[in-house]
Amino acid sequence: MSNKPGNFNPEIHVTDYRKEFEAKRVTRDCLISIDGRKTESLNGKWHFYADPIEYLLRRGWYKESRYDDQGREKPCDYDFEAMEEIKVPATWNTERPELFLYENMGVYFRTFRYKQHEEGERVFLHFEGVAYRAYVFLNGECIAMHDGASTPFSVEVTGKLNDVNRILVGVDAKRQDDRVPMTNTDWFNYGGIYRDVYFVRTPGTFLKDWFLRLVPGSGYSEIALDFSVDGSKSGEALLTIEELGIKEKVRYEDGIGSAVIKAKPVLWSPENPKLYDVSLSIDGDELLDKIGFREFKVDGNRILLNGNEVFMKGICVHEDDVYLGKSTNECIIRETIRTVKEDLHGVFLRLAHYPHTRLFSKIADEMGVMLWEEIPVYWSIAFGNEKTYKDAENQIGELIKRDKNRASVVIWSVGNENPDTDDRFAFMSNLASYVRSVDPTRAVSAACLVDEVGEKIDDRLADKLDIIGVNEYYGWYNPDFSKLGRVLKNSNPSKPVIITEVGAGARAGNHGPSDMLWTEEFQEALYMKQVKEIGACPFIKGVSPWILYDFRAQRRFNHYQEGFNRKGLIDADKKTKKLAFKVLSDFYKTK
Ligand code: GCU
Repeated sequence: MSNKPGNFNPEIHVTDYRKEFEAKRVTRDCLISIDGRKTESLNGKWHFYADPIEYLLRRGWYKESRYDDQGREKPCDYDFEAMEEIKVPATWNTERPELFLYENMGVYFRTFRYKQHEEGERVFLHFEGVAYRAYVFLNGECIAMHDGASTPFSVEVTGKLNDVNRILVGVDAKRQDDRVPMTNTDWFNYGGIYRDVYFVRTPGTFLKDWFLRLVPGSGYSEIALDFSVDGSKSGEALLTIEELGIKEKVRYEDGIGSAVIKAKPVLWSPENPKLYDVSLSIDGDELLDKIGFREFKVDGNRILLNGNEVFMKGICVHEDDVYLGKSTNECIIRETIRTVKEDLHGVFLRLAHYPHTRLFSKIADEMGVMLWEEIPVYWSIAFGNEKTYKDAENQIGELIKRDKNRASVVIWSVGNENPDTDDRFAFMSNLASYVRSVDPTRAVSAACLVDEVGEKIDDRLADKLDIIGVNEYYGWYNPDFSKLGRVLKNSNPSKPVIITEVGAGARAGNHGPSDMLWTEEFQEALYMKQVKEIGACPFIKGVSPWILYDFRAQRRFNHYQEGFNRKGLIDADKKTKKLAFKVLSDFYKTK
């Protein structure tokens, strides 16, 4: 007996309409490796409409059922082909002025043709980045739901395709306190399908995932391969690295294969970003990639790259552009890395506060800069919520799955500026353990806050980290600069510390005395004081000041900011350097 009244009409009375899609959640386990795999682009013009009441879901528009069960036409309020077009990939905020501050659901629609190429081929839809939750519908059926604004996801659609196919994607960009990040962030909340969309064909049995790296502690003389095969459970793979004279056959059983192979590769470093052409193949499938081999490790309170101590001369960067929002492109990435290496004399970039595009680490491999990659466990996450933990763990799992073959990625960060509570300690300790379980070859860190009461670096999470990140703004948020000296004197960390944020706001072109806030001279004077203290502290092994470019932030409204966080060493135009840029560049030249 239904407990619903006779006049219950689901189209107007249903409230828990999202529940049914939970069964279609896709996670890191569904993600397939696409590096070096042929893909077909679904980028381009999609139809789009803003759907703040989520009628796509609430009234089942995705079913496109225009007739009742007697074949009589029903009055429908939608006509997806008639909706105006929008670019994919792009953030809707920067595509439509009326959507600049829109943070609800946007619905994308397009058709695409499918023609089988090979007998037994399998087909996948693959999204590189959809902010924040994606509901994917194919020919009237929900095939995937994914959480996480900055990591990729794949969904198999083999056997679900017609000659002409209709795809609908409901993109929910809402901020929510149980999401990762939660409602309160100091960056702009863009929405949309803002990274590439692919159609991927594979053979019936295909290489799903692989990890190739130098074996830590092997004296740079062994490389390790782990790979997984989807389809037939056992067989033989071939690893080929011509330049190293490697043609290694590796058995796989139960879909899993691994090997340790003698090799003496030229080691990757920022000074010599050596990459090798690598092929991994099985019968009928082959993945190609360019891979660098290096060893990044912590030894006591030193940071070593290939056995040599390094000072992490870095800078932070957001994925933010005045015109492209959270989308980016190769030109911007190359110019960013060139600026850091050639103008700033840096070797390190902290990609804050979420996974940046896959393209960034690919280009960083090629150009030679080390990367800190991070998930947005930012400020006050719902640390006591199991669902939130699963979301965070899945995001860093998808990030590691995507970038683990990238030599430039040396640090995985599990968060930023979180309160040292018991729930947070458990949440982030578990994340750190998870990261090490899937990738023991990189350092685990987080950007922590100073214990302002005890005036020292003393975050319990440090015990779970390899490198302690510390954000400090003495001389800006805390005008008492002398406190920095006391904090450093009171601290005695047993691990390397990287100052992962430090800085001050300045409007490019705004000049005045060095004690006047928001002038370039103020920012310059602060950087002079900061680099002096940081440079003199023996346990600080790196610094990534906040931040390379001014960036959009919804909290920043004074007349110097006008909607942008102005702590950049370069204006939001990505061209105009401020006076402080040279202070940091001169400091790095001495390191
Ligand atoms: C914090 C935070 C950044 C923020 C910065 C600032 O440290 O990590 O995300 O933008 O301070 O206030 O400018």
